[in-house]
Amino acid sequence: MLSLLVLVACSLMAAGPAAARFSEQTSECLECHTEGTMGIVKQWDKSNHWNAGVGCYECHKAEKGDKDAMDHNGFTIAILVSPKDCGKCHEKEMAEQQASHHAEAGNIINSADGLLGQTVGGPPAVAVGCRQCHGSVVLINKDGTLDPSTWPNTGIGRINPDGSKGSCSACHTRHRFSKEQARKPEVCGKCHLGPDHPQLEVYEESKHGILYRAFEDELNMGQPKWVAGVDYFDATTCASCHMSAGGKEDVTHDVGERLSWNLRAPVSKKMENSEKKRAAMEQICSACHSDDFVGSFYKQLDEFVELYDTKFAIPAKEIRTMLHEEGVIPAGDFNDEIDWIYWELWHHEGRRARHGAAMSGPDYAWWHGLYEVAKHFYTEYLPAARELSEKAGKPEVYEAIVKKYLESDERHEWYLKGFDQKKLEEIQNYYQERYQQKVD
Ligand code: HEC
Ligand code: HEC
Ligand code: HEC
Ligand code: HEC
Ligand code: HEC
Ligand code: HEC
Ligand code: HEC
Ligand code: HEC
Repeated sequence: MLSLLVLVACSLMAAGPAAARFSEQTSECLECHTEGTMGIVKQWDKSNHWNAGVGCYECHKAEKGDKDAMDHNGFTIAILVSPKDCGKCHEKEMAEQQASHHAEAGNIINSADGLLGQTVGGPPAVAVGCRQCHGSVVLINKDGTLDPSTWPNTGIGRINPDGSKGSCSACHTRHRFSKEQARKPEVCGKCHLGPDHPQLEVYEESKHGILYRAFEDELNMGQPKWVAGVDYFDATTCASCHMSAGGKEDVTHDVGERLSWNLRAPVSKKMENSEKKRAAMEQICSACHSDDFVGSFYKQLDEFVELYDTKFAIPAKEIRTMLHEEGVIPAGDFNDEIDWIYWELWHHEGRRARHGAAMSGPDYAWWHGLYEVAKHFYTEYLPAARELSEKAGKPEVYEAIVKKYLESDERHEWYLKGFDQKKLEEIQNYYQERYQQKVD
């Protein structure tokens, strides 16, 4: 016990005064900033950067010619610390992050979502909405300070003046830059939630999310390496499955490396090298589940994705194209009632369904998901297609739709011909037995 105390005392003395541990420049920054921005200095005090002697100047220093350089009390510094700046010391993480879809997320203007944000909404809404998740194009004022319409911003695909993409502090909040914090699901939940990509909500209702809340304190989340099945075994977080190490898989900063599907597109798409990517994800699962279990999970997922695609997504997409080509509705997005129904069908409901299935959230797979897809397909989309065809004086267009998409697929038979009588009787009997009631 005594020797432990001596050890602690010695290490405290070894830490010594700030000046001895840090560069001369950083010591000067600290002289002012301990007064000026006390909170920042305290956050940094708690970080591994502090332990490693990496100070204010090491991150914020700039060259005179840099686009974002500014004079600051005798120093040349930049407010921005881009992935390229972090990458000077963290090359591997930067290379993976730059190659990921995350880094591309700032290029959103020419999408249908972009039209919705810029035109249907308006630019100030894009600045505080879309751009806070996706990333702004950061603009610099003449004196090196940052244009307030583009910063503060830590969007995942921010476009930086030095040409690098993204922001490491999208996940590693400053100035602690703690990997323990980045491993927590709430980090991803800043962006991955809501009506169109509710990964956080799906996760929270999954067994994995339930276990995370039950055993968070036992997950050893501060370990230098955090390996599934070795450092922890009770629960997974988003990072476990998409980034951290497990099985033969090393940690990665490319969150797409383990995805076999793109489930956010209107019609799902297999990724390039999808089998290899799926095998990588299976390495993580296999720390806690048998191969058969994981194989069966993916079989359920694939069958569900196929159901969504072939029964609803492909027909809905092609029906809209047909309505455009036949002149029933005007070209373009969001200028017709049916455009909005279609948009929510794939962008909200269809994504929720697929994300629910991919991450074991049954309520999202069905009630917030495929149930809504089916309801709106049958009770809004098809009726709107019929009405608009009739209004345009082209009822034959809807007739062709029925023939091509509904009559040809027996899964839609009930919509055209009603339910089977025998089936209805069975249902009546079920309620009679269960509640001693009939339903009409
Ligand atoms: C002579 C005192 C002084 C020194 C030395 C100093 N700063 Fe500052 N710095 C300030 C003050 C004061 C502010 C404004 C704080 C505020 O707005 O509350 C500031 C602001 C900043 C900002 C934010 C600028 C902005 O426009 O938002 C950064 C980044 C910064 N300092 C970094 C540094 C770094 C890095 C060093 C060392 C290389 C350093 N400072 C040295 C006093 C100083
Ligand atoms: C590991 C790198 C790193 C270190 C060390 C670091 N910073 Fe920063 N700092 C950042 C990043 C990243 C940002 C956010 C800028 C951006 O959006 O790119 C930032 C932003 C800031 C800002 C403006 C944002 C705000 O919230 O007001 C100030 C001021 C600042 N740092 C001061 C300091 C001071 C003082 C120190 C030393 C105690 C320091 N920084 C150490 C990376 C660092
Ligand atoms: C001058 C070199 C340098 C720069 C610049 C730098 N770092 Fe670091 N970073 C280090 C060192 C050294 C460590 C400690 C390594 C260790 O503990 O193994 C570290 C550790 C880390 C860790 C692990 C912290 C933990 O909880 O263990 C993270 C995360 C991190 N850095 C992120 C960043 C980010 C993000 C930036 C840019 C905003 C950045 N670093 C800039 C040198 C740097
Ligand atoms: C709360 C954060 C957030 C906001 C706000 C947000 N997005 Fe997104 N967006 C995301 C996430 C997360 C994804 C990825 C969804 C997935 O993988 O399932 C995404 C996906 C996208 C995609 C598809 C990218 C691809 O590769 O398929 C586009 C385009 C897009 N968003 C544009 C926008 C626009 C434009 C706005 C504003 C009108 C906006 N987003 C608002 C977080 C956000
Ligand atoms: C999408 C969120 C996210 C982004 C963006 C991100 N990181 Fe990380 N980072 C993590 C997670 C999660 C971990 C912990 C992985 C694990 O469990 O070992 C981590 C770990 C690290 C570590 C510790 C590595 C180690 O093995 O000790 C460093 C250093 C780091 N990140 C640097 C960066 C840098 C530099 C950037 C920007 C180029 C960046 N990160 C961007 C989520 C992120
Ligand atoms: C600041 C917002 C933000 C944060 C934080 C964030 N993401 Fe993302 N993520 C996005 C956006 C936006 C996209 C869509 C990018 C695109 O395709 O344009 C995305 C895409 C993804 C994808 C699909 C990648 C691909 O290659 O198709 C995965 C997986 C993902 N994120 C996982 C995570 C995880 C895990 C975390 C937390 C450790 C996280 N994200 C943190 C915004 C964010
Ligand atoms: C138990 C592991 C696991 C956990 C925990 C997990 N995911 Fe996933 N995630 C998956 C699987 C499996 C897929 C689908 C993989 C495929 O395409 O083959 C997926 C897909 C995704 C996608 C891609 C969606 C698209 O549009 O294609 C995103 C984004 C994502 N997850 C984010 C998250 C976030 C954020 C969290 C935490 C809130 C999280 N995940 C938690 C396993 C997990
Ligand atoms: C760190 C351990 C761990 C990892 C890694 C892990 N899981 Fe799990 N998973 C569990 C535990 C524990 C349960 C709860 C078992 C139970 O229901 O009793 C569970 C439950 C499940 C369930 C059942 C859901 C339900 O509602 O009954 C599925 C499906 C599942 N996991 C799939 C996966 C997939 C796919 C992966 C990899 C992408 C994965 N898990 C990774 C620990 C893990």
